[in-house]
This record gives sequence, C-alpha cells and structure tokens, in this order.
Amino acid sequence: MELRDLIIVTGGAGFIGSNFIIDWLQNETGKVVNLDKLTYAGNPKNLAALNGDSRYEFVHGDICDLELVPTLFQTHRPRAVVHFAAESHVDRSIQFPGEFVRTNVQGTLNLLQNALDYWSNLDASDRAQFRFLHVSTDEVYGSLQSEESPFTEITPYAPNSPYAASKAGSDHLVRAYHHTFGLPTLTTNCSNNYGPFQFPEKLIPLVFLNALEGRPIPVYGDGQNVRDWLYVLDHCAGIRTVLEKGEPGETYNIGGCNERKNLDIVEIICDTLDQICPSSVVGPRRNLITYVKDRPGHDRRYAIDASKIREQLGWSPSVVFEQGIQQTVRWYLDNMEWVNEVRSGAYQQWLQLNYKER
Ligand code: NAD
Ligand code: TYD
Repeated sequence: MELRDLIIVTGGAGFIGSNFIIDWLQNETGKVVNLDKLTYAGNPKNLAALNGDSRYEFVHGDICDLELVPTLFQTHRPRAVVHFAAESHVDRSIQFPGEFVRTNVQGTLNLLQNALDYWSNLDASDRAQFRFLHVSTDEVYGSLQSEESPFTEITPYAPNSPYAASKAGSDHLVRAYHHTFGLPTLTTNCSNNYGPFQFPEKLIPLVFLNALEGRPIPVYGDGQNVRDWLYVLDHCAGIRTVLEKGEPGETYNIGGCNERKNLDIVEIICDTLDQICPSSVVGPRRNLITYVKDRPGHDRRYAIDASKIREQLGWSPSVVFEQGIQQTVRWYLDNMEWVNEVRSGAYQQWLQLNYKER
C-alpha cells in the first residue's frame, strides 16, 4: 500500500497546532488528521473554521495510547507526522512535572516507535519520502547572559525547567531514532510564539486580559528577562519549509530575531490597548504593572540564531513585531467569546494556584 497525501498532526487543537493546520490547508494539498487529547490547552473551537472540510479529520486521543497510535498509522498511511502535542507551560511544569515527562517524553517515544514500525514496512521509495517532524523549543539550550551569542544548533543542551528538561528528553529520543534506526526525523527548536488562539496562561494573552479588564499585571522578578518573539504564522511557515526541504536527521532553529524584555512587551500591550480602547475607569494601563515574586529558576535570556534555516532552506520571518502585536491584540478583542469560553473553572483554579502566593 502506498503513502497517502496526508499528514498526522499531534496537538493540533492547541495554540501553534491549530494555526499550523489552518495555514497548512491553505498552502498545501492533501488531508490532515489531528490527534489531540484536548487537555485544558486544547480547544476544538480553534478549528471551527474547518467544520465540514473533508480534508480535515479530528481524532480525540492521547499520544501515549499504545493501541490508538499504531492504528492511526495503519489506517491513514501518512507521508509525515508533525508532532506538536506537549505540556507546554513552564509554570505548570514547576507544579506538575510528572505530567510533562508522561506526555513530552513517553508520548514522543510512543509516536517514534510506532512511526518506526510503520516506516520499516514501507517500500524503499516511500521510506525515502516519509518524515517525522518534531516541534521543539529554544528552552532546551538553557539561559544566555546578556553578552552571549544567540543559540545555534550546536549549542549544548542545558535545560533548566522541568518543561525544558522534558522537551530536551524528547529531542534526544528523536535524535536517537534517527541515529540508531535511520528514521527520517527533523527537529525544529523555536523561540517564543505569539498570535491568535494562545491560551491566556502565557505572558502576552494574560497581560492583554488583565490590562483590558483593569486588573494588576503580574511581572515576574524585575521584568528584565529577555525572550525572542516570533509571530505564530511565521513559525508555521518555518515548519512547512523544514518539512519540505530539511535534511533528515538535522535540527533547525527558528526565531524572530526579535529580542525583547518582558517589561517592554507589557508596556507595548498596555499602550496598544490605551490607543485602541481607552478607558476612563482603568486609566493608563501601565499603572497596572505589578512586580511579583519571580519564577523559580527563571531563565534570563533566550535568543535564536536562525542563520541555518535562512541560508540552507530560505526561510526568514515576515511579520514585524509592532505589526504582529497590533494584529494579536485586535484578534483577542474581536474574539472575546473565545477568550471567555477558555476562562473556565479550571483556568480560574490555575490563576489561584500560580498567582495567589506571589
Ligand atoms: P499548547 O499547550 O497550546 O497546546 C498543546 C496541545 O497538545 C493541546 O491541544 C493539548 O490538548 C495537546 N496535548 C497535550 N497532551 C497531549 C497528549 N498526551 N496527547 C495528545 N494531545 C495532547 O502548546 P503550544 O504553545 O501550541 O506548543 C505546541 C508545541 O510547540 C509544543 O511541543 C511546544 O513545546 C512547542 N513550542 C511552543 C512554543 C510557544 O511559544 N508556545 C515555542 C517553541 C516551541
Ligand atoms: P511565558 O509566556 O510563560 O513563556 P516562557 O516561560 O516559556 O518563556 O513567559 C514569558 C516570559 O514572561 C517569561 O520570562 C516569564 C514572564 N511572565 C511574567 O512576567 N508574568 C506572567 O504572569 C507570566 C505568565 C510570564
């Protein structure tokens, strides 16, 4: 049996995965099968635009499931897997590290083993075509001092949070499945993303909401930590590029070349909201900024050197940060129904747990 023009995406109901699927269907041929457990971070409504689209199929399930995963490979005969599914929030990994090891390490292992079983039984030309693309993070490289050069693909791994450690573990397994068994893997290590559908536990949507509603804006520590922000659709384009042109066994860093201090990000969001929807009740939103107890082990700076993907594969980011953040703020304002829905009981419990003691 031949490979189909179909990809399996894991974690496609989350922030980046849902943007990726919509973007993929607009730019590529073939079908997408989305395997997602629908944890607190997964929301099928992110993909409501695809209702009735025969090129899209949703499978509710866990990447750790030892029976479902092999069945998916046999039923759908994908030409590629694009693996996003993960526990993704550093603060949660400090509270619940075990869940991160289960999904990020064991779940990735289960996907790899089943991809290998499937791939090994393909004929030679299909084996040459198949790809397993693993979506990872720059956090595996640890923290940079202010004067250090950005992370390259050969920067030694030095994960500092349980989240980063579990992603590093998954990256190493992907590497091992290529090195030992020849599975045609690709790994991308990307910097912080922002854009539509990001769950409001992460900095940008959390600040947006608190600023909009006149609540204190929690800035960890001194607010001088630096992240390299990338618009989510630029990340999606980077993944499509790596899938099409990347060399099996290689890793590619993807970044925005856009280093910003947390405090600067917070101020930009405050000012953007003041401009778009000034409030005489709330006043200037910068007044809401509140320094709170730092995150334990808080990495000081992340920055990506994206020259490999730019020079070898021709990808570079296209969205200027000022424009991307305006678009993002407007998207959240236009989609308050989505926002209010994800702020369910479980989300309120998280806010209590993470911010009460700070
Ligand atoms: P997210 O938390 O928004 O979404 C994760 C998705 O995975 C959710 O839909 C969730 O339901 C699903 N999921 C979780 N556990 C699962 C399991 N056991 N089985 C099946 N599905 C499961 O995450 P995100 O921000 O979209 O990140 C996606 C990927 O990109 C992750 O691997 C993350 O490490 C990586 N990444 C994220 C960023 C970022 O800034 N958000 C940056 C670089 C890399
Ligand atoms: P986050 O969006 O959680 O991403 P990551 O930790 O994976 O980089 O946080 C981005 C930065 O913002 C990080 O330095 C922590 C900081 N931060 C705050 O200052 N306050 C907050 O309430 C949150 C959620 C994050």
